[in-house]
Amino acid sequence: MVQITWLGHTTFSLRLANGEVVIIDPWIDGNPKFPADYQIDRVDTILVTHGHFDHIGNVRSLAAQFKPQIYANYEICTWLGSKGVDKCNGMNKGGAAQAGSLKITMTHALHSSGITDDDGKMIYGGEPAGFVLHFDDGRNAYFAGDTDVFSEMAFIAELHKPALAFLPIGDLYTMNPRGAAIATRLLGVETVIPMHYGTFPPLTGTPAELAVLTSANVLTLEPGKPVEW
Ligand code: NI
Ligand code: MN
Repeated sequence: MVQITWLGHTTFSLRLANGEVVIIDPWIDGNPKFPADYQIDRVDTILVTHGHFDHIGNVRSLAAQFKPQIYANYEICTWLGSKGVDKCNGMNKGGAAQAGSLKITMTHALHSSGITDDDGKMIYGGEPAGFVLHFDDGRNAYFAGDTDVFSEMAFIAELHKPALAFLPIGDLYTMNPRGAAIATRLLGVETVIPMHYGTFPPLTGTPAELAVLTSANVLTLEPGKPVEW
């Protein structure tokens, strides 16, 4: 059993069966949908899908506070290292790593990954990615990150058989619900958690639009309200 809490946009907290807390794409400061009263009280692991500010914004502050192990692409880890963040484990697509009791596999994503440095300049942030999350009860979930639908999602299904997928649906920067419906079919998942929608007015895709296009269960989360999976 894992407790999943959406913290708005693409930020999630996963509390694992043994109590470890995994934060994915931490963005707190400036995140319009971060739940106002929510307190992050423990962080063992941070996963970073790509270098955009809305995914990496609070990696450094959480790293300073909780000293977690961080997993990201090699370029992001190098940049974090240059900012004094140690414990970043660089990896790349297709590779797996053991992050506490959670095993993770980095996957492809169809997006970009520039990092806005402290002086405002855009620097190279490697390739964007997603993660397959291998829980210690044998179940797998796929966290897509920011991406369009891509045909290699069929390989993720073949390799990892995820039962759950976190998919962006907002449009403009990622796929929309129509793309997410195709992704759901390629992945063969039973359940989809929509993300990267509703944060700003241009992110117009809705879970209801996805729900009419797929037979999978669309699990619509409310920021700050945990669900068990
Ligand atoms: Ni992005
Ligand atoms: Mn984004």
